[in-house]
Amino acid sequence: MKRLVIYYSRTGTTKRIGEKIAASLVADLDEILDQKSRKGVIGWLRAGRDSQTDKMTEIKVQKNPNDYDMIIIGTPIWANNFTPAVRTYLTQFSLKGKKVAFFTTQGGDEPIDALAEMKEMVTESDIIATLSIKQDFVKANNYEAQLSAFLEHLR
Ligand SMILES: Cc1cc2nc3c(=O)[nH]c(=O)nc-3n(C[C@H](O)[C@H](O)[C@H](O)COP(=O)(O)O)c2cc1C
Repeated sequence: MKRLVIYYSRTGTTKRIGEKIAASLVADLDEILDQKSRKGVIGWLRAGRDSQTDKMTEIKVQKNPNDYDMIIIGTPIWANNFTPAVRTYLTQFSLKGKKVAFFTTQGGDEPIDALAEMKEMVTESDIIATLSIKQDFVKANNYEAQLSAFLEHLR
């Protein structure tokens, strides 16, 4: 079983979880690079607006998901939605027939609608697990139990 952990992260929170997952599973790790600047106040405002309106963006990745059996995809939550970078990734690459898991980090509670829509984008995949961790818990390193339960589904 070849596993790829692929994430988008603006400020490093989702990246931290992605790195943990990849290390625990001895999986490959890749970052989705959004070619649109999300820096500063303008970038922040545009991030929220683009996410809210289901905008796509231009992305760069290193690894080809076709080379893997399981794809574990991470995104922050922006405006109750997943990011344009991950929306674009799920649109550009077919994950048909693959095992897929999603993880999110966010300021608030579990992003039920965003998770549901991500699942809808990969209905031809075998969705095996989801994980949502509050940003404060990531910062405080207080997510071991949640992460372990998620990893159990991916082994
Ligand atoms: C533009 C923007 C919009 C956000 N909207 C939400 C939101 O609707 N709900 C929420 O819980 N967190 C929201 N957040 C907080 C992020 O989801 C949270 O800080 C996340 O952990 C950041 O991940 P990162 O460090 O990997 O970029 C938002 C953050 C940004 C930048």
